[in-house]
Amino acid sequence: MTTQEMQSITTDVEQKQLLHEGLQSVEDAMLMVVNSDVTVLRDASNHILQAGGKRVRPRLLMLAYLASGGTDVEYAAAPGAAVELMHTASVVHDDINDHGVVRRGRPSVNAKWGRTFALLTGDFLFTAVYELMAEYGDINADLASAATGLVEGETLQAWAVKNDEFTRENYMQIIALKTAALFKSAGTMGAKLAGADDDVVEALGNYAFNIGLAFQIIDDILDIVGDEATLGKTSGIDLEQGRGFAAVENGNGNGNGANGHSENGNGNGKTAMDIAEEVKRKLMSGNRLEEARQQARGLVAMAIQSLDVLPESYAKEGLIALAHKVIDRDK
Ligand code: IPE
Ligand code: IPE
Ligand code: MG
Repeated sequence: MTTQEMQSITTDVEQKQLLHEGLQSVEDAMLMVVNSDVTVLRDASNHILQAGGKRVRPRLLMLAYLASGGTDVEYAAAPGAAVELMHTASVVHDDINDHGVVRRGRPSVNAKWGRTFALLTGDFLFTAVYELMAEYGDINADLASAATGLVEGETLQAWAVKNDEFTRENYMQIIALKTAALFKSAGTMGAKLAGADDDVVEALGNYAFNIGLAFQIIDDILDIVGDEATLGKTSGIDLEQGRGFAAVENGNGNGNGANGHSENGNGNGKTAMDIAEEVKRKLMSGNRLEEARQQARGLVAMAIQSLDVLPESYAKEGLIALAHKVIDRDK
């Protein structure tokens, strides 16, 4: 049966119900797999998972699965949970590196349990992925390459900040690796789980990759202009990590120039807060934010165009809506 023929057998109402059930199964699978006998791991995992989060990646995977003609959402739930756990592991670790004290509207794992247990909780969430993916054969390779990309991206970012190499080019490579690779794996796996043809797998991979780039650009803009309470996470300019700079730094030389200043200032009598304010003012001035938003809009338009190969369906509309939501959000 072709994808198109399979598609026609599920109605919009059925797809809506399947999406709902699929995402609920993702939640169940995540909570089940982190149910360790080691109290700290179980508590810290539940703390971060039950805080919510947008669940963009499993939603994308499920929608890609349904849009490709898949109907067995139970089958797609474990990979959906695996993608979300990998993402969650990455933010637990990221909060150690970025000194994030609030995540998903709660104290970060780092803030509540300290660095050691945050490191181990992140490890635990990463390793839970093996268990979830054990039965899924070849698509493990898609998730594995996303995992590698994620670590490479975070490392490249730390390197770029340390060496004052946060150029536009490096920024794009960093976000492709640390964020878009995992999005791409969600799109690709969703399609492959549904047994989609290669062109559909490629289209959903491209869609998701571009959505991932746009998602990170908007995240970095929100980091500068967003409201911390709405975002539910530590935001603002972190001088040590240079978060948010490169998204709006449209030049080609070094990104931020804020690098190398200690928490106590730069020796010119300026505190870290002064420098952050100065940089923030600079970034907010002129068209930089608008240019970055424009770039994100372009990526989203490209993503939506990739969906042309898919037949019309509730799930395809869902993918289009998700694409718009990526740029039109305040958290
Ligand atoms: C935050 O991701 C990290 C980035 C890749 C920008 P999300 O914005 O998806 O975080 P949650 O899952 O909703 O908390
Ligand atoms: C989060 O990155 C972790 C990954 C993308 C792997 P960021 O540092 O850009 O995101 P937030 O702002 O802390 O969520
Ligand atoms: Mg961070």
